[in-house]
Amino acid sequence: MIKEITPATKLYCIFGKPVSHSMSPLIHNMLFNKFDIDAVYLAFQINDIKHGVDAVRSLGIKAASITIPFKEAILEHLDEIDETARQIGAVNTVINNDGYLWGCNTDCAGAVEPLKEALSEGLSVVPEDLFALSKGSLDGKNVSIIGAGGAARAVVFGIKKEGANITIVNRSKDKGEQLAIQVNGQYLSLSAYNELTYDDSMSNHLEQTDIIINTTSFGMTPNIDESPVNPLILNKKMTVMDIVYNPLRTKLLKDAENSGCKIVDGLSMFIHQGAAQFELFTGIKPPRQIMREYVLKNMTKKHQ
Ligand code: ATR
Repeated sequence: MIKEITPATKLYCIFGKPVSHSMSPLIHNMLFNKFDIDAVYLAFQINDIKHGVDAVRSLGIKAASITIPFKEAILEHLDEIDETARQIGAVNTVINNDGYLWGCNTDCAGAVEPLKEALSEGLSVVPEDLFALSKGSLDGKNVSIIGAGGAARAVVFGIKKEGANITIVNRSKDKGEQLAIQVNGQYLSLSAYNELTYDDSMSNHLEQTDIIINTTSFGMTPNIDESPVNPLILNKKMTVMDIVYNPLRTKLLKDAENSGCKIVDGLSMFIHQGAAQFELFTGIKPPRQIMREYVLKNMTKKHQ
């Protein structure tokens, strides 16, 4: 927290429902303190995003993070929307420039940056290396995305922009195919995907897959023994990312580690999207490793 709240203290916040579990206040207040910025970040649970937007305008809130269930509904209330956020159909960050509200989506960067780091040479597991320069490239990489919901859209459009080839793997065909068409990708049903083997006609697909990303809630507490992916389709050339961070080592990531894959956990995505937000808020690129350690420390404290 900041040392002293004065009439000059700037207000930042997150709007959502619920927000009691949010770790965003923790990281942004820690960073305001670290960089001696006279600002405070609060969490507001609201029923209607229109009221949140009105509050931003009337109270002069400098910027807001937007979380479930308002990421889509907020679009119609903003003055300008970044092109990628418009493609995704969701905004998670609103910046208030003297009453002119601009929205964007940092979940894309949240997915792209840790993947690039994992792909950069010499990196085995991401967490200890969050400071590594983003040297890896997603250009031309074959990426399978599990899921086709809101979280999938942020990941998919971010990765597509980097030049990756996309396969959408989803339970329901309509939603999966629709997203695949939007990114010039292909669609595979989740059941068909999990039946692929290394010695059938689709073996090329598996051999050429560079990255698998789970964007569904599979494996999230309490279903910690579930994985969306059959471990038999994994191979050591793959990088596997999970957006679930509770638990940190999901069944999917454990299977991936056992198969010799590089892994990127869900906390990496959360930290990177938060870091991108803080940079938009203040112009400062924050130390992601310190953010990660701080969140981990507080997660442990909460569970003691
Ligand atoms: P979010 O916005 O968090 O991504 P969502 O829009 O409800 O949430 O999307 C959840 C995604 O996870 C969907 O792709 C969903 O598959 P369907 O399109 O078939 O509904 C997928 N998903 C969730 N639970 C699943 C399950 N038990 N089995 C398979 N897919 C599941």
